[in-house]
Amino acid sequence: MSIAYLFVPGSSEKKIVKSFESDADVIIIDLEDSVKIDEKVEARQLVLNTIKDLPVNEKRTFLRVNATNTPWIKEDISLAHQVNLDGIMIPKVEEASDLIWAQKQTTLEIIPLIESARGIVNLKDIILASSTTKRIAFGSVDYALDIGAEWTAQGEERKNAMNNLVLLSRYYNLEPPVDAVYPDIHDKESLQRDANYGKQLGFFGKMVIHPKHIDWVKQVYQPSKEQIEWCQLVVQAYNDNKQDGAFQLDGKLIDLPIYMKAKRTLTMVTTQMADH
Ligand code: COA
Ligand code: MG
Repeated sequence: MSIAYLFVPGSSEKKIVKSFESDADVIIIDLEDSVKIDEKVEARQLVLNTIKDLPVNEKRTFLRVNATNTPWIKEDISLAHQVNLDGIMIPKVEEASDLIWAQKQTTLEIIPLIESARGIVNLKDIILASSTTKRIAFGSVDYALDIGAEWTAQGEERKNAMNNLVLLSRYYNLEPPVDAVYPDIHDKESLQRDANYGKQLGFFGKMVIHPKHIDWVKQVYQPSKEQIEWCQLVVQAYNDNKQDGAFQLDGKLIDLPIYMKAKRTLTMVTTQMADH
């Protein structure tokens, strides 16, 4: 499963090239907020020229197109097809009709970015309208702006929205949602605190703005060596003691949900090893 989704401005050839040398699980080439209005068309051309020499088939690569109510979206989507990307991320999705419209333009996977009160309140309809969506992503800075709250490192203002994203993703059998970028480039401790917050609420993976955030986020989501060893012990002990339903191991309760959680962690580790 993918953990680190690296954003890279579609207007920077150098950064696009660098992003493919990074350890990001997913690259998101951005045509939206990181590209100035008078450079949108130029950026598309730059992405086209740059990406043809890059290993887009070896790394999952998405294009963040401009929002559905902008004049750029149609050609942005065409570009994603032309360069054979894995999918598109659509920003500021607020209604089911945004996705219904987009799915008429493309069969590629769509990651809707939810970053407003309307997006949260209409989430159920948005999910029901998506046939090519596997997971949703959250934009915390735009969300705070939209609801008129102050964006905080602690994240109290976004907790309810994040709970909704997790709950509805689960209910409608999507993968867990992907957490928002952390806007401070250098502060490892608070970025990891924020990544842990999302993880505790039920998110999986995080978008990042800088290559050095990739490892920081992976450290949060990847189980440690000790956790893996513990999970192996739990699975072994459960298989040996199945007849008991519940029992203790080193003073801790082991029962079906704990066994299932341990198995899930081990499966994640194996899948990741297979991906590399
Ligand atoms: N992808 C790939 N490479 C990146 C990168 C990114 N997102 N961010 C920085 N780099 C590269 C830089 O080009 C630089 O390369 P160099 O050492 O060869 O010169 C190196 O990593 C160190 O970068 P640094 O000097 O610390 O940052 P910067 O001032 O060049 O860039 C930002 C800072 C914020 C402008 C940049 O990180 C960025 O563009 N982030 C993504 C923004 C974005 O896409 N926003 C939209 C979604 S929120
Ligand atoms: Mg934004």
